[in-house]
Amino acid sequence: MLEKLKDIEKAALAAISACKDTAALQEIKIAYLGKKGELTQILRGIGQCAAEERAAAGAAVNQVKEYIEQAIEQKMTVLTQAAEANRLAAERIDVTLPGKKITYGHKHILTSVREEIEDIFIGLGYEIAEGPEVELDYYNFEAMNMPPDHPARDMQDSFYFSNNLVLRTHTSPMQARTMEKVAPGLPLKIISPGVVYRRDDDATHSPMFHQVEGLYVDQHVTLAELKGTLLAFARKMFGEEREIRLRPSYFPFTEPSAEVDISCFACGGAGCRLCKGSGWIEILGSGIVHPNVLTKCGYDPEKVSAFAFGMGIERIAILKYGIPDIRLLFNGDMRFLRQF
Ligand code: PHE
Repeated sequence: MLEKLKDIEKAALAAISACKDTAALQEIKIAYLGKKGELTQILRGIGQCAAEERAAAGAAVNQVKEYIEQAIEQKMTVLTQAAEANRLAAERIDVTLPGKKITYGHKHILTSVREEIEDIFIGLGYEIAEGPEVELDYYNFEAMNMPPDHPARDMQDSFYFSNNLVLRTHTSPMQARTMEKVAPGLPLKIISPGVVYRRDDDATHSPMFHQVEGLYVDQHVTLAELKGTLLAFARKMFGEEREIRLRPSYFPFTEPSAEVDISCFACGGAGCRLCKGSGWIEILGSGIVHPNVLTKCGYDPEKVSAFAFGMGIERIAILKYGIPDIRLLFNGDMRFLRQF
């Protein structure tokens, strides 16, 4: 039996040392030490030995078993270390490869234009006042001198939540919201940028767009001051050579009202495609605040007067940058947005 044990030991150690990977080593372990393995068979056979030999035989088998176990364990360590080293070698980082470029975001064109407008008016002493997009019918219409059923409400197709709640159709409600604050000191000069909503949708109209409202309340505010202010704005925004003109118009909340045009910056006023041959481009609505509006907001129209104006930010951006379709401003196409 000892002979046989020696043979097994020799064969096992040879197999272990020749073994090349952990899976094969596992098989060797089963073949020699497993339940049906060769050593286990021999251990079982010990029962047939003469009683006085049993202890020695058992010890001999266990000795061999221990050798083999140790050999397998050592080999296992060697093999796992080698496998790990191989994996690391394969994964080695090539520091000479060119890096991945980090792309930076930037402001949306509408944000830049809004900030440009804000900066111009801040320079003229205006403060910024922001208000709610979901507005009470009272501020959107009534305080703006448009009582229920007033036909002028049709000028602005609206999204209603309920009878008295509407997505604001313009930023003008901010005129009333600012003026009615308990005795705001005079002069009161604010601009109010923000989102507005109307039921319109085509190449030049979006159901959601942006306006900037302007309001100046003081004693003796005149149309001349309105014109001077808007001329200063037009020149800062569209170039120092710009002229403006006021065309009579109608808004329920201003009297008189005026549509403001700037001299065409593409042709300088000679007439071209952009200005449709007229030499002028309309950029905003304005007027002297109606006495009814002042009264509703707690001012005495005999003592105080005001001018107001409202412009579409998209329209300014479209004109300034020659954008052919308003929808380009909202559909998130990076090929378009990256240009600005
Ligand atoms: N609220 C008007 C509009 O949306 C613009 C406007 C504002 C006109 C202030 C006059 C004075 O069309």
